[in-house]
Amino acid sequence: MIESGGKKTTSTFPEGNSREDHPIPGKDKEASSKKGSRDNVIIKVKDLNLWFGTHHVLHDINLDILERKVTAIIGPSGCGKSTLLRTLDLMNKLVDTCEMKGEVIYQGRNILERPGNIYDIRKRVGMVFQKPNPFPKSIYQNIAYGVHIHKIHRVKDVDEIVEQTLKDAALWEEVKDRLQESALGLSGGQQQRLCIARALAVEPEIILMDEPCSALDPIATSKIEDLINELKRQYTVIIVTHNMQQAARVSDYTAFMYLGKLIEYGETHQIFERPKQELTENYITGRFG
Ligand SMILES: Nc1ncnc2c1ncn2[C@@H]1O[C@H](COP(=O)(O)OP(=O)(O)O)[C@@H](O)[C@H]1O
Ligand SMILES: [Mg+2]
Repeated sequence: MIESGGKKTTSTFPEGNSREDHPIPGKDKEASSKKGSRDNVIIKVKDLNLWFGTHHVLHDINLDILERKVTAIIGPSGCGKSTLLRTLDLMNKLVDTCEMKGEVIYQGRNILERPGNIYDIRKRVGMVFQKPNPFPKSIYQNIAYGVHIHKIHRVKDVDEIVEQTLKDAALWEEVKDRLQESALGLSGGQQQRLCIARALAVEPEIILMDEPCSALDPIATSKIEDLINELKRQYTVIIVTHNMQQAARVSDYTAFMYLGKLIEYGETHQIFERPKQELTENYITGRFG
């Protein structure tokens, strides 16, 4: 059977990369003046353990997520990728049998213990799911709905938000003449970009994507990948994917998980070209998975 490479991976930050090495691309005054971005670790996961009932699903996870980067989480099915993602937007708190220990530090506090306003976290941390799940409403309403429930008050009216977010999600040109038509009439790839637009409409900081392309064909997939590349100018993206080529194409950092443990975390090219752990190497070379 597969043996671990032996070394324990406890480093939270990709080795050899001090935070000074990671200036925020296109860093602007706004970014440095708010959101506590003295450094650019936006979420810090510390010694996270998670159980569903007696099933110990996540083991001692330490992970620093960098602002305005794309981080991919890879690993075989059932290793805890989605569970880790759902810890970050506090979805696991809704599961009765779920118990968590450790810390998820976001905006200066451990949100597992002190989430503050949970709706505020959900607004700041958007989620895009595996299967596109637009509401059975018009394209326009799909975006406007999120804006209304989060009661965003600002000068721009909803029409403008709808247009801008559809543009940001690279969908506007395809749907601008049919905004009042049902979202269910869109192709799968368009529906997924609509779901991304819907997530963007409430102005999140972080976008979590759980295998966002697994239901899509290669062309639709490549549009989403291009979009992810654009999104990191403004957002922090964390993407779960079981497609290693996709991780290599879209991400700056990659975290490899196996049996609930974070085996290795580092810059994507390092993970794929010079993995430090034997387990990582076995996985990326397709010896198991
Ligand atoms: N809500 C839940 N209740 C009980 N067990 C769960 C729940 N969600 C996930 N699990 C279990 O946690 C483990 C990790 O699952 P998951 O995070 O979905 O893996 P991955 O996304 O890597 O395929 C699996 O054994 C799964 O059955
Ligand atoms: Mg999953």
